Amino acid sequence: MSTHGGRATECPVSMPVGRTRLVDPPTETVRLLEEQPICRVRLLNGESGWLTTNYELGKAVLADRRFTAARIWGRQPVGELERWLAEGVAEEGKPPHLNEADPPFHTRRRRAIMSRLSFKRVQDTRDRVQAIIDDCLDALEQAGPPADFMEHFGTPVPGLVLSDLLGVPRQDREFFVDLTDRIRNPDSPAADLAGDLRTWDEYVEGLVEYKGRNLGDDLVSDMIRDESTTHAEVVKDTIGVLQAGHETTTSQFGYGLFTLLHDISRWDALKADPGSIDRVVEEMLRYNTIIEPNPTERTALEDAEIGGAMILAGETVIVSLLGANRDPSRFEAPDEFRPDRNDKGHMAFGGGIHLCAGQHVARLELTLGFTSLVRRFPDLRLAGDLEDIRWIRANAQTAGPLTLPVTWSHHTEEH
Ligand code: HEM
Repeated sequence: MSTHGGRATECPVSMPVGRTRLVDPPTETVRLLEEQPICRVRLLNGESGWLTTNYELGKAVLADRRFTAARIWGRQPVGELERWLAEGVAEEGKPPHLNEADPPFHTRRRRAIMSRLSFKRVQDTRDRVQAIIDDCLDALEQAGPPADFMEHFGTPVPGLVLSDLLGVPRQDREFFVDLTDRIRNPDSPAADLAGDLRTWDEYVEGLVEYKGRNLGDDLVSDMIRDESTTHAEVVKDTIGVLQAGHETTTSQFGYGLFTLLHDISRWDALKADPGSIDRVVEEMLRYNTIIEPNPTERTALEDAEIGGAMILAGETVIVSLLGANRDPSRFEAPDEFRPDRNDKGHMAFGGGIHLCAGQHVARLELTLGFTSLVRRFPDLRLAGDLEDIRWIRANAQTAGPLTLPVTWSHHTEEH
């Protein structure tokens, strides 16, 4: 990473910025947060943009209606932005993903999914989520010790919970979880990312058509019933929920378990006080901030001054959620894992109108998942050497382990 001069406009940082080794604290982001919380960066496509690394500026950009969520990197002719906003289409008449849509399109489409994703409705699915977790714990137990936590638990649990939420028929679920896992791990020898993404699109297209003829008690049926939503939007938002909900929760499970077992006093503390689980999960979300390799970004619709920097219309600002979550002016001793800080104000789920739509689902899976793990495998440990853990490549969608070998000497029957 190159060094920089003192002025905000001269910061020659290239994206992605963050952890150089995934197990280390994000030194470059932390340095920027201290020295230049808004600075110039070179975006992945070579264009020049901006990066915020502290809490206050990150929060401000995400809440600022002068910015669009459309993924338009670098300076754009303003006319193109206006056309996009007026029509609510991304390309070839297709709707953009929900997290790239602006009001009023975003408002209408988000409403169509939120009723099933409210805190109350998600709590109602508790028993079903617990049943999925118990089945996966059985599979983990049968596979080891030792066994790969990601293969038997971290990957299937979020995949199966989403399948249940969306209404994927039971016979398709294994195929479906395998496919989304391959997409998360495009470095695997068997991977054909373009082919897998095509298969995924075709599957979802077929699922939405099937649901149209067999409406049920699920999220895809909710969207179909909502007459304001077009067929193309239902397909796009089904894919969007899958993309937003599987890999993220899988990475959070993996990084979270690694964090607890790497310093075993954290695991022992949870075991001694299972009632602390909500605080442990919040701290895990803040501390790991798995979304960081693919950070949140917004593009200015008009010139906007942010933290003393003038962002010109059409310029993109990357918001580092990881930086925000490690900001010492917001979190005391931010590089320490401290569940007792009991603070839900972190930015792991983003902010503003695009705040994670599935946060209650993620929290339910993580709290039930870790509670069940610690109860069933009280002496769980990392197996093998730290070097044996394979991490997702640094510029992927999320940060987290691809494999996490764990071992145990006994387990409890009760679950
Ligand atoms: C620990 C797991 C998760 C993390 C860390 C996470 C993080 C995020 C973040 C940071 C955003 C905002 C992106 C932006 O502003 O550009 C977001 C949006 C979103 N998330 Fe999550 N997410 C998680 C799990 C889930 C789950 C389980 C679901 C579905 C059930 C989900 C569905 C969505 C959707 C649909 C959006 C777009 C919302 C919108 O644009 O209005 N996420 N998520």
